[in-house]
Amino acid sequence: MTHNPKVYVTRILPEAGLKLIRESCDAEIWTEPLPPPAAVIRQKIQDCDGLVSLLTDKIDGDLLDQAPRLKVVSNFAVGFNNIDVPACTQRGVAVGNTPGVLTDATADMAFCLLIAAARRVVEGHNYTLAGKWKTWEPLGHLGQDLVGRTLGVVGMGRIGYALAKRCHAGWDMKILYHDVYPNEKAENDLHARRVDFDTLLGESDFVSLHTDLNDKTRGMIGAEQLRKMKKTAVLINSARGPLIDQKALASALRDGVIFAAGLDVTDPEPPSMDDALLEQPNVVIAPHIASATVQTRNQMAEICARNLLAGVSGQKLPAWVNPEVEGKRRK
Ligand code: DGY
Repeated sequence: MTHNPKVYVTRILPEAGLKLIRESCDAEIWTEPLPPPAAVIRQKIQDCDGLVSLLTDKIDGDLLDQAPRLKVVSNFAVGFNNIDVPACTQRGVAVGNTPGVLTDATADMAFCLLIAAARRVVEGHNYTLAGKWKTWEPLGHLGQDLVGRTLGVVGMGRIGYALAKRCHAGWDMKILYHDVYPNEKAENDLHARRVDFDTLLGESDFVSLHTDLNDKTRGMIGAEQLRKMKKTAVLINSARGPLIDQKALASALRDGVIFAAGLDVTDPEPPSMDDALLEQPNVVIAPHIASATVQTRNQMAEICARNLLAGVSGQKLPAWVNPEVEGKRRK
């Protein structure tokens, strides 16, 4: 008699994915709303063939060493900075993620933050709720225009392109981008111009971050970079919180170094309630919800499940972060 592969899932996912997992695996699922403590994951995966992780779960060499049978880590996210990928590869463990399906939802959220911060929507909402709205004010709540302005995209991958397309096609914006690789499609379709980082900071009205978090990009926006931006500029981050030095951003917002910021991610998550950032009226903060639409999360769950199932049975992962592991995968 053959046994189904044993897998651990660190949170309840949309049923579209869980159903696929349950059909062919012996699955244990962490059902609490907050993430499982590291010690629980460590203990649970000891005899597992597969693990479904979230961006809140740190997966490193130490943890993998507790799980000699583990063949795959399937992350329920496109980003995988929570996983030490070289440590997985070294141990023959395949890693999967969920690219593509969350591109539009994330670009929509980046745009939503851009317009909300530029037009002071949340500030106005709070003003209304506080009973401060007394009359129509010619000089009240003045924000920034969007049409014909310049968008600077840091990291012109799928999501950066999708945001740039919205801004170029809908708002007639000029597009600058900074990336280690040229993006011909963006240059051809959107007349995007690849520039060095300082030029992007200096010339953009909106700066939106879409790059991976790694040792080179951590803290890439600090006090010095904020000073290089226009006083009227709006900074958007829907990628990872630690790309920005959050203390420096709070000071810049307070001192009028830039106009506003729209963030879907912070450092840490959630931010501490006494973080100076939360005191600034010119910041809009969402709780890391860029991919949070019903359809997108269903699709993410399905890809995540398919990566897991492929991983436990030694097949090619549909969305494979470390294909270089092939040849030394655990059997
Ligand atoms: C990701 O997928 O990396 C997002 O941050 C969550 O959807």
